[in-house]
Amino acid sequence: MITSNRNPFKIFFQYLVLASFLVLGSGSQQTSESKPDDALDKRVKELLSKMTLEEKIGQLNQLSNPYQQTGTGVMTAREEKFDEMVANGEIGSFLNVLGVDETMRLQKIAVEKSRLGIPLIFGYDVIHGYKTMFPVPLAEAASFDRALMQKSARIAAIESAANGLHWTFAPMVDISRDPRWGRIMEGAGEDVYLGQEAAIARVHGFQGDKLSDANSIAACAKHFAAYGAAIGGRDYNSADMSERMLREVYLPPFKAAVDAGVATFMSSFNTVNGIPASGNRWLQTDILRGEWGFDGFVVSDWNSLGEMIYHGNVESNYDIGYRGVDAGIDMDMEGRIYVQHVKQLLDDKKIIISQIDEMVSRILLIKFRLGLFDNPFQYCDKQKEKELTMHPDHLIASRDVAKKSIVLLKNENKTLPVSKKVKSIAVIGPLANDKDAPLGNWRGSSTPNSAVSLLEGIREAAGNKIEVLYAEGCKLVLNTEQNFFTQLQYNTTDRSGFAEAIATAKKADVVIMALGETAYMSGECRSYADISLKGLQPELLREIKKTGKPVILTLFNGRPMVITDVVEHADAILNCWLLGSQSGNAIADVLFGDYNPSGKLPASFPYHVGQIPVYYEQMNSGRPYDPNPSGFSSKYRDIPNAPLFAFGFGLSYTSFSYSKLALSSAKISLNESLTIKATITNTGDYSGEEVVQLYIRDVAGNGVSRPLLQLKGFEKIMIEKGESKEVSFKIQPKDLAFYRLDKKFAPEAGKFEVFVGTSSDNLALKGSFELVD
Ligand code: BGC
Repeated sequence: MITSNRNPFKIFFQYLVLASFLVLGSGSQQTSESKPDDALDKRVKELLSKMTLEEKIGQLNQLSNPYQQTGTGVMTAREEKFDEMVANGEIGSFLNVLGVDETMRLQKIAVEKSRLGIPLIFGYDVIHGYKTMFPVPLAEAASFDRALMQKSARIAAIESAANGLHWTFAPMVDISRDPRWGRIMEGAGEDVYLGQEAAIARVHGFQGDKLSDANSIAACAKHFAAYGAAIGGRDYNSADMSERMLREVYLPPFKAAVDAGVATFMSSFNTVNGIPASGNRWLQTDILRGEWGFDGFVVSDWNSLGEMIYHGNVESNYDIGYRGVDAGIDMDMEGRIYVQHVKQLLDDKKIIISQIDEMVSRILLIKFRLGLFDNPFQYCDKQKEKELTMHPDHLIASRDVAKKSIVLLKNENKTLPVSKKVKSIAVIGPLANDKDAPLGNWRGSSTPNSAVSLLEGIREAAGNKIEVLYAEGCKLVLNTEQNFFTQLQYNTTDRSGFAEAIATAKKADVVIMALGETAYMSGECRSYADISLKGLQPELLREIKKTGKPVILTLFNGRPMVITDVVEHADAILNCWLLGSQSGNAIADVLFGDYNPSGKLPASFPYHVGQIPVYYEQMNSGRPYDPNPSGFSSKYRDIPNAPLFAFGFGLSYTSFSYSKLALSSAKISLNESLTIKATITNTGDYSGEEVVQLYIRDVAGNGVSRPLLQLKGFEKIMIEKGESKEVSFKIQPKDLAFYRLDKKFAPEAGKFEVFVGTSSDNLALKGSFELVD
């Protein structure tokens, strides 16, 4: 979560930043030499041998800039003497301290005044951009474009590093199958494979070629683990699931992040099968370090150590200290637990010094890998900060990512694209001229109200040839200001703008409506039981539709929404998410056909909230779905089983046909791979990109039931109008692995079905093969 940029404390903080710049001037930028890890290990050991216990405990302590809290805040923290604490080596890391001036000021104290000169590591939630905002991560996952995801993370890293930061608390790689959970917006959605691919792309993007490069920042895979499975979709709630579900669905994106070289992990707030994740040795040590070989450090989530008291697994903060150390939580974010209790725990022999040494070593190793010891000020360059923040190239990239994240959900009578020959367009709705919603809830240090609104984007694209009319129609929320702390008040009664909106629609050739969610309706602590369009929005849409004009709905959202009752009132629907700084321009690109939409849903859109959790990777039941109403089959009596829009669904202005499925062999052994080819033809009127999706079904899991479908590959390809292209996928036996009856995560011989197609519910091609011992 993040405080509003209008927060008075932040304004004061910005003043401090400016003041310290005037005093200190700018730093210098040098690249740091890379050192092989054994040399770094030696340096860690040498340094550790010189440290007092107090200095060691200081490294475990991470505090927030008291003027910009991102968690349950203790403003009393302002009473603490941070500068003095840094000089005494009592703080190892800050979060929420931003900008070259302030990071340099504090770093100077750490390096020049503390006894051993150990540099600080500055962390921040750079979730989808630092100042140039990209689409929220869920939206970006809809691009199904690995290179694009990597690029946006790279740019976010460049801007962050230029602003003095070393570390982002991203990517969030939590799988979520519950759109009531507001944080579904921060991840890659419901699917394991897409989640893994997004994790890899984002870790590489943030960390660049080398962690010690001046424009690389350490990434953090969070929240470990199962946070996205909060019961009932209520944020911070417990997660309870089988070990199979955990290992097959919720853990793989974390493992992928480790394999991609992620520097840090963050533990989660929730309990996992009754044990708080932040006190869970099995997760944080046995699996993460033991099974996966992770050698970076683990930071707790914001006071997630302290919150164990409420989980009721411990009696005191002293016990929490023990649990945290035992679990393998190296750095305590804002909990002040280690600072207060580690010494006593050592004196009481509850823990031993080698445990603390290991924790400190892991933190120091990442500081060494970042090059902070070689050049603690390499991130402190005023010139770079000025040049790189909101660089024009970054805005161009943001628009590119944004347009590729949009998903076309409906396009009846080819309503879209809008012809540039129309005379007038009416832009209507509470979000039509909203310059803030597209920035999302985790908005880095972006300027409030700085996104290009839909109205602005359409006006820009329309130029002076098309008349663009505008009416708000109704307000969505009544609050004059929204930020992390506001309780939103929805407008359910004020229809005073309806008449003007209807009159405006009547004057135009086509109507574009902007409905959905504002920035603060998704994100942390933004769970909703009702995820349909709020307030008077559906009514406004119905009224506008009655004018008989073609209606295009642009939907703004940080989560899949329930729009079942709304669909029939729009001729076309574009799912526009929260697209960041260039939102309006990107949507205009798609509306007018300058870009042919190519996004696919990374999470199912429920038909009804009662279907949740709703996802395509279902197991079959012993009584599979049968449309016959008298049958005893697994179904709802009042609604369909299927979601309204399935995972992987997304239309294009053109059409594609699938043919010629070819498997390299009917049988492969455990050390062979299989090549699967298919031909895709663009049969429509526009050139366009298609996300070709490969799914498999393990027909019988040797004692274990297997899902009906699992995504195992995707390729996004551009196909010109009238052209055909062949797409090739490679499947290796390890891609078929599952948590077997013998508790091994490994493949097993047997029959497999293969499907290739355009979405999880539309798979035109089917084949099969056998894996043999
Ligand atoms: C969130 C984390 C975030 C941290 C620091 C917590 O409330 O759960 O995702 O990184 O705050 O801002």
